[in-house]
Amino acid sequence: RSVVALVPAAGRGERLGMSTPKAFVELGGKTLLARAVDGLLASGCVDRVVVIVPAELTAAAAALLPAGVEVVIGGAERTDSVRAGLTAAGDAEFVLVHDAARALTPPQLIESVVRSLRGGRGAVIPALPVVDTVKVVDESGAVTGTPDRAALRAVQTPQGFAAELLRRAYRSESVATDDAALVELAGETVHTVPGDPMAFKITTPLDLALANALVEAGQE
Ligand code: CTP
Ligand code: MG
Repeated sequence: RSVVALVPAAGRGERLGMSTPKAFVELGGKTLLARAVDGLLASGCVDRVVVIVPAELTAAAAALLPAGVEVVIGGAERTDSVRAGLTAAGDAEFVLVHDAARALTPPQLIESVVRSLRGGRGAVIPALPVVDTVKVVDESGAVTGTPDRAALRAVQTPQGFAAELLRRAYRSESVATDDAALVELAGETVHTVPGDPMAFKITTPLDLALANALVEAGQE
């Protein structure tokens, strides 16, 4: 009945625009990757952690992570990296997929995803209401629609799955921006649990400034 957490950390961090790949950028003296892994371990409900990093950084990753954390090599797209992690996940019953970029994710959120999986859900994702009104636009930028904001959610990680379900979803060659979308395409229901603002993804320099301020204020 094991829970294996995959931590994709093989991206370049182009939008952050630093010379170091994003997962290896430090926040208060500790990398985003190490912070994300610490949160998973602190939740007390993860049996194994597999991090997925660029090939040239496997030794660096192993050196900055606690003993027992496994390190595998990622691929060009996030989907490729998750697929590499899934191969290493072995006979897990549940798989969590958690972005290294969500470095300040509270352990309680991780626990709540695992609790829902153990309660019988096959696919569980943290979700928050959307604050901005969202428009659909065409190629010229003209607005073609305004979805009802009340029905929209911004989703986070960790996204949790019954391992077999995620493996099946990854057998397709579809492309998506999150793992749940592949499960949806496979025709399975994805459930939400309340997300947490602290699980925000560090994507841009503004996000990193916010994360630094939170760490300095001891709010992380
Ligand atoms: N990721 C990965 N392998 C890739 C691309 C992304 O493991 N080929 C990981 C990133 O390291 C990150 C997570 O997926 O932890 C979420 O992706 P994102 O926030 O988009 O990070 P990057 O792809 O690194 O950033 P950018 O898109 O700005 O280049
Ligand atoms: Mg990316």
